[in-house]
Amino acid sequence: MLRAFFISLSENKSLRAMAEQSAMGRRLSGRFVAGMTLEDVLQVTARTNQLGMSVSIDNLGENVTDAAEAAHSAQLYHQLLDEIAARKLDANCSLKLTHMGLDVDEKLAQSITLELLEHAERVNSFLRVDMEGSPYTQKTIDFTRKIHPLHPGKIGTVIQSYLRRSEDDVVALCQDGIRIRLCKGAYQEPPEIAFPDKKDVDNNYVRLMKILLKSGVYHGIATHDEKMIAETIAFAESERIKPDQFEFQMLYGVRRDLQQALVKQGWRMRVYIPFGTEWYPYFMRRLAERPANVLFLARNLLK
Ligand code: FDA
Repeated sequence: MLRAFFISLSENKSLRAMAEQSAMGRRLSGRFVAGMTLEDVLQVTARTNQLGMSVSIDNLGENVTDAAEAAHSAQLYHQLLDEIAARKLDANCSLKLTHMGLDVDEKLAQSITLELLEHAERVNSFLRVDMEGSPYTQKTIDFTRKIHPLHPGKIGTVIQSYLRRSEDDVVALCQDGIRIRLCKGAYQEPPEIAFPDKKDVDNNYVRLMKILLKSGVYHGIATHDEKMIAETIAFAESERIKPDQFEFQMLYGVRRDLQQALVKQGWRMRVYIPFGTEWYPYFMRRLAERPANVLFLARNLLK
């Protein structure tokens, strides 16, 4: 119930405009967002690297409504790729196709992303296409599979274990040798296409994780769920899959203790670090995942 409520708030345009312009909103967003500028995120990335963790940087934004906005978003990613290389950071980039203009013109989004991918290849980096709500699932998978052969190993995408279709997608993407980030899924989806019960989402997560780890492709196991992590470690150990054959991934500001504990145990960890002024939908999805975060934020506000 609360999850659905926060996800519906995340899509509210007037609230978004109000929140993103308010000083208090910006302060609160700091719980999950590294800052508003490129320099902010690069500094947080350097500090995260010093703790032994890799990073994926997300320039926040989604569902842009004109070509100029999409071009502006891409420009920031080009700057990011150059800065990551110049500062020798251990980081790559994550982006959303609707931030690159998918709702405006599919061809535009594809050509903008292809240019970014070419840039990523030139600086020996990697581009991850985040997975959005179900209207974009097929388009995201088709797009990734279409351009992967042009830059093999340099582009990957995301699979959500709450979707009933995901096992088929995992098998197809693994056959192409495409790197997958496995997560549970952060959007509100109808029961016809997504498991409504957490137990089924978790069971599917474990099933997909095992396919990924056995595939021979380097994948990301993205979760803060200690049960999913324990299952992954137990499976890797029983199958003699080495710690450098996959990585765990977690979000900036979530379970820092667990991130560092896993690194200490010798596992690879990549932290997903978002930045930018368009933080509202991302922030609200984080509240939806754990409504107790609202209390935490309220306490901070009162301090
Ligand atoms: P679950 O929600 O069951 O939470 C398990 C435990 O983790 C909680 O009990 C709590 O302790 C902690 N936790 C989880 N979320 C928290 C939060 N927001 N604040 C505080 N504690 C929290 N989704 C998507 O649809 N498309 C995508 O591209 C991505 N990309 C992505 C990248 C990375 C690196 C991660 C880690 C996650 C995503 N996600 C995503 C989000 C993902 O789908 C999911 O919504 C969240 O990771 C929460 O699910 P968990 O697996 O953590 O389990």
